[in-house]
Amino acid sequence: MNQNILSKTKGKVVIDNISISYSSRNEQIYALKDISATINPGEFVCILGPSGCGKSSLLNGIAGFVNPSNGKISLDNKEINKPSPEMGMVFQQYSLYPWKTVKENISFGPSINKKGNESPEEIALKFLDMIGLSKYANHYPNELSGGMQQRVGIARALANYPDVLLMDEPFGALDSQTRIIMQENLLKIWREFKITVVFVTHDIDEAVFLSDRILLMSTLPGKIKRDLKIDLPRPRDKETTDSKRFIELRQICHSLIREESIKAFEKQNHL
Ligand SMILES: Nc1ncnc2c1ncn2[C@@H]1O[C@H](COP(=O)(O)OP(=O)(O)OP(=O)(O)O)[C@@H](O)[C@H]1O
Ligand SMILES: [Mg+2]
Repeated sequence: MNQNILSKTKGKVVIDNISISYSSRNEQIYALKDISATINPGEFVCILGPSGCGKSSLLNGIAGFVNPSNGKISLDNKEINKPSPEMGMVFQQYSLYPWKTVKENISFGPSINKKGNESPEEIALKFLDMIGLSKYANHYPNELSGGMQQRVGIARALANYPDVLLMDEPFGALDSQTRIIMQENLLKIWREFKITVVFVTHDIDEAVFLSDRILLMSTLPGKIKRDLKIDLPRPRDKETTDSKRFIELRQICHSLIREESIKAFEKQNHL
């Protein structure tokens, strides 16, 4: 792997007392209020919370797609105010370019933001091999299953050698078996790249299985209710999910999330 580009000392995200608001129907709605957190280089952090609590808003803030109304977010001491190649993003919907082949989808980023000596084509072939889809290099996205498209989405994000990989419910649309395989693959990639990952999900099992830490969010406006360390040994596999500690951690998340989901549902119902 390209160790001179990928280093464990990069990829520190500091969220410093930010709020994010939207104007909607002549009203200012705070999706997030006074959030602070530090995500360390190489850490795998999940943002877990009920629907509508502001998870995507927070991730979009980190990605530079949305600017906070106050406070600031920085990557390696540089304030983020627009998207940058240091951040790779994977969305829930497979957002591949339908008119480009799989290989062209992956090489597109490197052809714009050149880093290192590899050609965009070489980079695309390397990442296709890593995600096990070399045979599909010249296929178009609509010729691939959802899981395969999402693997291409991950390869496309990694092809820019980002310091941080941001993922917004990337496996939400997959069946449960494919989802488990994708989670295990993602952990392998993360180990190999030693990259910072910020992963949004509302699935408790997924968050506990993947994370070093879970930021549990409360709702309307979103805040971080609990910063929970996940002290399960790695590498993780089927044994992890059967362990007593996994079940305990899942239970902690369950009770915290349940409270918030009920609150969110009631608030949404009375708006
Ligand atoms: N562009 C926008 N304009 C107005 N309001 C918005 C906009 N985007 C999000 N919101 C509001 O901000 C709040 C948080 O939304 P966000 O999408 O960040 O939540 P979420 O936790 O990602 O939800 P989900 O789990 O359903 O994806 C919601 O109340 C939503 O209605
Ligand atoms: Mg969302």
